[in-house]
Amino acid sequence: MNKQPIGIFDSGVGGTSIWKAINKLLPNEHTIYLADSANAPYGPKGKDAIIELSIKNTEYLLSKGCKLIVVACNTATTNAIDYLRSNYKVPFIGIEPAIKPAALQTKTNTVGILATKGTLSSALFSKTSNLFASNINVLEQNGDGIVELIETGQLHSEKMKSLLKIYLKPMIEANIDYLVLGCTHYPYLMPLLIELLPKHVKIIDSGEAVARQTKAVLTSHDLLNDSSSIDKTEFFTNRNLDVLKSLVNNKSDIQYLDF
Ligand code: DGL
Repeated sequence: MNKQPIGIFDSGVGGTSIWKAINKLLPNEHTIYLADSANAPYGPKGKDAIIELSIKNTEYLLSKGCKLIVVACNTATTNAIDYLRSNYKVPFIGIEPAIKPAALQTKTNTVGILATKGTLSSALFSKTSNLFASNINVLEQNGDGIVELIETGQLHSEKMKSLLKIYLKPMIEANIDYLVLGCTHYPYLMPLLIELLPKHVKIIDSGEAVARQTKAVLTSHDLLNDSSSIDKTEFFTNRNLDVLKSLVNNKSDIQYLDF
């Protein structure tokens, strides 16, 4: 079992930001990344549709023998991880907007959260937000359109810059000192966010925390791959190969899959 792969899925290419952190921390693990780009974005879909798609992705990764699954998508985690955990035996690692560290560290008592509609409207997000951020001012912004631009290769476009300016304006005016990235596509916006935000605003993304949690769960389940050699990654996508290639190492094994 220890040599079996770790499965990672997202609604599209964004979860590669999580894959990078996992691959850096656990280079001798075999990883399989699944980008369901044909169905992106998940954000505007309802909970039932997100659960259906998460089941489809999980079933595919299990058919490849995965020993653990990382739901590298905030939208799928906040809507579907409870269902997945109750219906499958393998351990699941999820990702949620890191509101807790922002709420604990803010000096202006004001933090911004950029996430999808599906994440911001989920019961899990409300619960976490009420638990850790009820005493601070939280500016929630639905990042409508961002995932679509990234999925169609327009990460570095003027359109993206204009959209971000609109989304960040109310946060800047309210004097946020932390911006939480609540979608795994968003770490790819880092250069633009740094350009557009005042210097004192810190940006929080959870990639490294998810990688550490993956290692901890593999260890506690005695599932770590103890081989000392670097293992391989297989990437699968049901849409644009070139967009995925542009975000990960070109030498990687990237394949089109009709799923
Ligand atoms: N990467 C997904 C997330 O973290 C994007 C969601 C979407 O497809 O709308 O939420």
